[in-house]
Amino acid sequence: MRRFALTCVMLCAVASPAAAQAPMFSAEQVARGKASYIQRCGMCHGENLDDGDFGGAPLRGTWFRDHWGSGSVASLFTYVQTTMPPDNPGGLNDTTYADILSYILQRNGYAAGVQELKPDEKSMEAMSLQK
Ligand code: HEC
Repeated sequence: MRRFALTCVMLCAVASPAAAQAPMFSAEQVARGKASYIQRCGMCHGENLDDGDFGGAPLRGTWFRDHWGSGSVASLFTYVQTTMPPDNPGGLNDTTYADILSYILQRNGYAAGVQELKPDEKSMEAMSLQK
């Protein structure tokens, strides 16, 4: 399952899965995600998401859009959960990953709503990052 999902990260961005709805996450979740992001990701990806040390790739702007903008929230979630942080992949709990993702999405111009982003594969697959 994990392997399939990882392959999906590479293929689905190209294949553009049938994902229709905009990403859903809440402002409260963004605040939680920001705190966790700074603690767990910020040293490599930077406080501004594109100014990190240790070779962390940019997590916003054109780079982010080119890599993730035609896929679903699920592809991004699976990538992050199975590879980040590099010294401890899968080391955070799923809710924390979802919170951090909310923060990254908000910083990329997706709008927060009332409903939280749940770490549920089916619902995340239905959320497109296409703008
Ligand atoms: C020890 C440094 C380090 C930490 C900590 C870290 N990352 Fe990364 N991250 C990297 C590196 C290096 C890459 C590039 C990997 C590659 O291209 O193969 C990367 C790539 C990524 C990407 C893909 C970016 C792209 O489009 O190319 C995402 C998304 C990401 N990290 C999210 C996170 C999140 C979320 C966290 C915190 C839970 C995190 N990372 C923690 C070093 C780190």
